[in-house]
Amino acid sequence: MSQIVPQAIIAKKRDGIALSKQDIEQFATGLVQGQFTEPQAAALAMAIFLNGMETSETVNLTMAMRDSGDVLDWSGFNLPGPIVDKHSTGGVGDKVSIVLGPMLAACGCVVPMIAGRGLGHTGGTVDKLEGIPGYCVDMPLPEFQQKVLDIGVGIIGQTADIAPADRKLYALRDVSGCVESIPLITSSILSKKLAEGLDVLVMDVKYGSGAFMQEKTKAQALADAIESIGNSAGTKTKSLLTDMNEVLGHSAGHHLEIIECIDYLTGDYRCPRLHKITMDLAIEALVMAGLATDATTAEQQLHQALDSGQALVIFNDMVAAFGGPADLSDTYKKHLPQASFVKPLLSPKAGTFQSINVYEVGMTLLELGAGRLSLQDKIDHRVGLSDFIALHSKVEEGQALVTIHAASEAAWQKARARLLKNMSIS
Ligand code: URA
Repeated sequence: MSQIVPQAIIAKKRDGIALSKQDIEQFATGLVQGQFTEPQAAALAMAIFLNGMETSETVNLTMAMRDSGDVLDWSGFNLPGPIVDKHSTGGVGDKVSIVLGPMLAACGCVVPMIAGRGLGHTGGTVDKLEGIPGYCVDMPLPEFQQKVLDIGVGIIGQTADIAPADRKLYALRDVSGCVESIPLITSSILSKKLAEGLDVLVMDVKYGSGAFMQEKTKAQALADAIESIGNSAGTKTKSLLTDMNEVLGHSAGHHLEIIECIDYLTGDYRCPRLHKITMDLAIEALVMAGLATDATTAEQQLHQALDSGQALVIFNDMVAAFGGPADLSDTYKKHLPQASFVKPLLSPKAGTFQSINVYEVGMTLLELGAGRLSLQDKIDHRVGLSDFIALHSKVEEGQALVTIHAASEAAWQKARARLLKNMSIS
């Protein structure tokens, strides 16, 4: 590769000229190896933020960041099915991956999920799984790959070896005001997902008060970009746009959400919104993967995976294989303890439950101890919120709106005040 001249690459983008494949590859390599300094990388990120990227540039950036680290290679294995994953742009109470992974595996997919941690107001799948005693979210990729082959699904966190260029660039974007750029978000998400060596990816792009892209038109633009770039990069990709103006499912908080996943898989309780989004995403995945000829067949296969108990068996096998307790669905009461102060928040008046600011619900969870403001913060897996009343329901004065699971009465009172301020009953 010729000598890297960061200034020339930055100036090109600053002046609105499209970057070549070679410019972009030099940027990704230079970022990891040090020829592109952090101020230079931040300057280029700002130039991209301001001037955007053509589709071919975003594809090249995605591939260059993917190839800056390890990419799972499945070619030497006798695979039982297509390699499929689902990813979400992040929400509050979003536990879809934990039920959908075993459901897809039960339908014949191989599902190597490399998931994220929660940061800010959104929760992270990896944190939820880490609340299961013993579950290991961090392991060498060959070991992860073998577990996925044995069980059909595995979920771990991002390792230092996956897309290191994205890891560096994301941190710089975060401190330089360059996060909300569609080409940068698209290439960031896809570089990590495509490192899994996927045939098929379904993306859940969220909008609404609890989403990272709150405006629906912006979320739609992101969904379109991810679909277009994913397909151009050779992975069949479909994006669904879903509503984050309400917490997803009936609980939010780590132990509470794992219990909700168990209830979902056993069939004891399936929150209708959670069920609809999970089924919609899984149906798209099965049809795109060629495992179902149409949506109706895919739906039947998914019902069979749930009704036969096969998805539940795979979930239990996954938890045990990654170091958690055996038969978690039977033993979770012992392994997933509750918080010490659990009490419902009662409605101060009668009326209709009109709206809830889900961003503020996420921040309340964070204050309760279920989230972190910096990656070093320790989280309390027992705290959270459960039994949310559905949006637009009629409520009586004194009726429970949500149950708050807090570590102390003071924390409960603080959460109550913040939630009441952000729920509207008319
Ligand atoms: N998630 C990512 O992985 N990257 C982004 O840029 C935004 C959300």
